[in-house]
Amino acid sequence: MIKIAIILGSTRPNRIGEGVAKWAYETAKAKGGAEFELIDLRDQNLPLLDEPITPSRHKYANEHTIKWAEKVGTFDAFIFVTPEYNHSTCAALKNALDFVYAEWNNKVAGFVSYGSVGGSRAVEHLRGIATELKMANVHAQVLLYTDRDFEHYTVFKPTEHHEKHLHKLIDQVISWGTALKTVRV
Ligand SMILES: Cc1cc2nc3c(=O)[nH]c(=O)nc-3n(C[C@H](O)[C@H](O)[C@H](O)COP(=O)(O)O)c2cc1C
Repeated sequence: MIKIAIILGSTRPNRIGEGVAKWAYETAKAKGGAEFELIDLRDQNLPLLDEPITPSRHKYANEHTIKWAEKVGTFDAFIFVTPEYNHSTCAALKNALDFVYAEWNNKVAGFVSYGSVGGSRAVEHLRGIATELKMANVHAQVLLYTDRDFEHYTVFKPTEHHEKHLHKLIDQVISWGTALKTVRV
């Protein structure tokens, strides 16, 4: 079975993303077909990128970078849970992506996003970033609207419709995640 990390991008106090990431993780675990782990970027304590050499050269200097690289390296695929901040993803997630390079390569990215238009603009940016990191990004996507999918814009209220889209996303991530394993051998 492949290993999939569900990465919670927002590190903000009162973040609404926590409910979304926990829902995605619990739904994925119940569905099965892969091993899932929930990663909260808050727990990684990454500073703003402070590597002296560009990460693509794979000469990590800092202990926190080596630790993060080891963590990312254990997974075959990723489902990023992203808010939309100023028509893009949040800085914490972009920073975590920037920190390492080879550990993302030839792996799979899927997206669960939220915002006033479902976080769609954040994901458009993330798709470009994923491509630069040599990640295959799947077509299926879960878009959540802050006005109708969250009670008082805060508490996430999942529906059958959301579940259906999440299952589709997970299926595609597992399928491509399994296929790309052969590329990395
Ligand atoms: C700095 C900042 C910028 C934002 N910009 C956007 C935006 O461009 N589009 C949007 O739909 N929502 C935007 N929002 C609203 C967020 O979608 C909303 O605050 C959401 O709760 C953020 O996710 P989080 O609580 O998990 O951090 C922004 C919020 C913040 C904090």
